Amino acid sequence: LRPRHKNLPPKVRTIPIIGGLLKFLKGPIQMAREEYDRLGPVFTCKVLTRNITFLLGPEVSEHFFKAPESEMSQKEVYKFNVPTFGPEVVFAVDYPIRVEQYRFFMEALKVSKLKGYVDAMVEEAEEFTDKWGKEGEIDLKAALEHLIILTASRCLLGVEVRKSLFGEVSQLIYDLDQGMVPISVLFPYLPIAVHRKRDAARKRLEEIFGAVIEKRRKSGIQENDMLQAFIDSKYKADGRSTTHGEITGLLIAALFGGQHTSSITSSWLGAYLMTQPKVLAQAQQEQLRIIEKHGEALNHDVICEMDYLARAMKETLRMHPPLVMLLRYAHTDFDVEVRGKKYTIPKGHITAVSPSIAGRLSTVYSSPDSYDPDRFKAGREEDKKAGTYSYIPFGGGRHGCLGETFAYMQIRTIYSVILRNFEFELVGSFPETEWNALVVGPVGPITMKYRRRKLTQADVCADLLPESTV
Ligand code: HEM
Repeated sequence: LRPRHKNLPPKVRTIPIIGGLLKFLKGPIQMAREEYDRLGPVFTCKVLTRNITFLLGPEVSEHFFKAPESEMSQKEVYKFNVPTFGPEVVFAVDYPIRVEQYRFFMEALKVSKLKGYVDAMVEEAEEFTDKWGKEGEIDLKAALEHLIILTASRCLLGVEVRKSLFGEVSQLIYDLDQGMVPISVLFPYLPIAVHRKRDAARKRLEEIFGAVIEKRRKSGIQENDMLQAFIDSKYKADGRSTTHGEITGLLIAALFGGQHTSSITSSWLGAYLMTQPKVLAQAQQEQLRIIEKHGEALNHDVICEMDYLARAMKETLRMHPPLVMLLRYAHTDFDVEVRGKKYTIPKGHITAVSPSIAGRLSTVYSSPDSYDPDRFKAGREEDKKAGTYSYIPFGGGRHGCLGETFAYMQIRTIYSVILRNFEFELVGSFPETEWNALVVGPVGPITMKYRRRKLTQADVCADLLPESTV
């Protein structure tokens, strides 16, 4: 018999059995935000038969991020990805194999590789915006989605896919994407049309990558992309090479980790640059300073110097993290202390943290609803002052995002090209958030009106710059 826990976290009040589900389906983040105000940072919501315990804010989320897999695991809560990624990778395999596969990701994304990827990112962004002509109006959101899939194809999937197979592969990726609907989270194998299409797409992708891998292996040609890194990867445990199924699965996992997250972040950032003249002026001034120092060429080292653009992106992610809830399954009981009161979270609970809620806590951030990239400036660094796990759009601890640097490079590349070559403005109002999605982004199109010109000092509104940058 399990002992009864005395200090369980407070419970969200709901109608028995389906009440929690109804509240949850209406919008888990809105529900959690309201309960945070009512019950504090730790509370449990019963959704059908499952207890979900929220751990909101840095003071209560350390165990979530730091505990070993034997205590807090991802597999149970993220296994709905298995039919999409395939049976040989990530949440389908035992933890020691998964750890090796995460090492393959790290190798594929290390700085020496990134340098080459950035050259490709610059080429893709320039080629893409060249087609915009002298002036016009576009849906920035759709354009960025397209540019990011082009760049991902080139840097991750390889030159063969980018140059000759892009049409078919992007359709297959689209089918995989459409096969991930809310019901898939609970019933990933439900025999519905979108799941059947997803399974066919997964199978075909493995055939396509199988052929590319064999061709590379036979010809001995080595490319600088993630596909090559995965082909060259070997398991330490037994020295074996990766299979076609594993390589395909890891590439799909990278695409799913980085595609919508990055395109959504770049859309929000664009919306802020178009509506915050002070932010735009500082971003432009930074580009001019860098051009003066290094000339026009864009490469990895030059982009690394764009601190202001990085802070603007960081602030965008604080306010609009695309992954709004991160989950783990608790295999052991654990305690958290809230303002001197100790709660025990029993094993078997699903635990949840929320980057959306963490980013708006007034206990961590001053005026949390206002956009202010300088809150992350040296000396202020509001996220660091409030402790580890205050800033979690990329997660943290044991499973922090492995593509964070890639994403920062990609988004800064895109905006360097746009800032240097165009003046632009938003048509319409600042977008609302589409909460009803697995990866949360802006609603509807973001219409941008633009005119081509070369950025000069005359384009920068000097009155809006802080004294230190003039
Ligand atoms: C993990 C966010 C871009 C690959 C994560 C996690 C978050 C996240 C929150 C942790 C999930 C959890 O703890 O449950 C983001 C955001 C991105 C981004 C906001 C862009 C703005 C990328 C890119 C890649 C990538 C571009 C690959 C090229 C991964 C991988 C993991 C991960 C492999 C799993 C790490 C692990 O579990 O140990 N990401 N990501 N991400 N991300 Fe990203």
